[in-house]
Amino acid sequence: MSKESWGSRVGLVLAMAGNAVGLGNFLRFPVQAIQNGGGSFIIPYLTCFLLMGIPLLFVEWSMGRYGGQNGDHSTPFILDSMSGRRRWWKYVGIFGIFTNLAVAAYYCYIESWTLAYVWRSISGAFSGQGTEAVSQMFTDYVSLGTSEPIVFWVICLLLNTWILSRGLSGGVEIAAKVGMPLLIFFGLFLAIRGVTLTAGEAGAIFDGTEGLNFLWTPDLSSIWDFKVWLAAAGQVFFTLSVGMGSIQCYASYLRSRDDVALNAMSAGWMNEFVEVVLGAAILIPISVGYLGIEKVVELTQTGGLGLGFRTLPYLFQQWGPVLAAVAGLAWFGLLFFAGVTSSLAMGTPIMGFLRDEFGLSRERAAWTFGATVLILGAPTVFFFQYGVFDEYDFWAGTVSLVVFAMFEIILFAWVFGMDNGWAEINRNADMKVPAAFKFIIKYITPVILISVFLGSLLIDGGIIDQVTNKALHEELAATTDPVQRAFLEEKRMFVNGSRMLLVLIFAAIGFLVYRAQQLRDRNGGQRLERA
Ligand code: ALA
Repeated sequence: MSKESWGSRVGLVLAMAGNAVGLGNFLRFPVQAIQNGGGSFIIPYLTCFLLMGIPLLFVEWSMGRYGGQNGDHSTPFILDSMSGRRRWWKYVGIFGIFTNLAVAAYYCYIESWTLAYVWRSISGAFSGQGTEAVSQMFTDYVSLGTSEPIVFWVICLLLNTWILSRGLSGGVEIAAKVGMPLLIFFGLFLAIRGVTLTAGEAGAIFDGTEGLNFLWTPDLSSIWDFKVWLAAAGQVFFTLSVGMGSIQCYASYLRSRDDVALNAMSAGWMNEFVEVVLGAAILIPISVGYLGIEKVVELTQTGGLGLGFRTLPYLFQQWGPVLAAVAGLAWFGLLFFAGVTSSLAMGTPIMGFLRDEFGLSRERAAWTFGATVLILGAPTVFFFQYGVFDEYDFWAGTVSLVVFAMFEIILFAWVFGMDNGWAEINRNADMKVPAAFKFIIKYITPVILISVFLGSLLIDGGIIDQVTNKALHEELAATTDPVQRAFLEEKRMFVNGSRMLLVLIFAAIGFLVYRAQQLRDRNGGQRLERA
């Protein structure tokens, strides 16, 4: 039985909140909200949070604690232990390892940008630069104009590996206890600055509250637009880290007598506070204050990362050199803490699997994770311009989460059985879970998840279009410039190549799960790991 465990309840909740609070809260949420019409996004978002996010939190926390009692710390064998004699369920658990690995592969790269941008902000790299120049600095950065991105990326991977190698209470928990309060402190500072920004002050043309009004004025016009609902559901998944397998892993280190209900709600609602209060009050108000809503909407059409890395560092300069450096440190510092506490959660399931099934020591498991992320992440770093990064994000950060969540809720409510599941959620609970959730988990959440999955298959730009490279072919058909055509042809090659790599990784994890079962069978049904 593994001796790894959480040091304290506060540490556990902060680590779980750190798992959820990530780059998604500050970069992805505001951009999704802007792209989907502001006030028309927030209603589907909150509905998905209540009917899909909260139920999945209850389900994943209790699945994790249940699996942990048998000494299982990753989804293949947690699912196996809940499925009775239906042994194929452990192969569904491949998703819970694959997603973490593939998301970590590109996520750690963005995390490393934030570290580089902390350094750039405090060293005054943006001071005196115009809007074009600051934007160009980001283009040069991701085109690997210098070795700086590689250096920061490797530092970031080493840091993650080192913290992971120190274990839960000695590494992950300390990172969360330091990172989360600092993140909230930095976030409050910037949010106050964002909402108190007034037109005419430091070159702003609108009040910061214009941006907030855009987000918080409910607009029912697109309530029937399925695309907005899909975007909202995708955001709820990504931000809560549900459907990934990391919550189950963290929860598997709980003691059997520990509560899951109140802990799950504390971490989940902390994430929502950071997302809809802090996350909404920084990027949108500041950029709308200076650029107006139309321009901000236009800037986000080409993707989300530009606003945070190209626009904000320039806008901070309007506040004078000292405040600009402090704001840059706060913005990129909070992104870094948000990122690192999430990537640590992505490493833990892989370590849990390697340690449980193949008897690796903590250090070796951590280094194996670090090295795999280095190899798998390299294409996203070196071929960023060719869309490899977006390809990983689509398959691992979007599709995979929905597919896994769909299966796990069916397992929990219909195979393990809702009565057993409900008893698990309520066992030693420190709060009364509203009875309605029994019905919601059994019927509503699965129906929503199946609809989201079918919708993502068929929708314009969805899974089928992605598999057939529809957008890329349309772009090729519309381009006559030979240089641009050559670039698009190359892009197609990289996109297909990265897809194959992801399939290969998935299959390799499948093989490891198969080997693990063989080893267990040989070992009389016991896993290899011994404390
Ligand atoms: N939940 C993490 C985030 O929001 C992955 O970034």
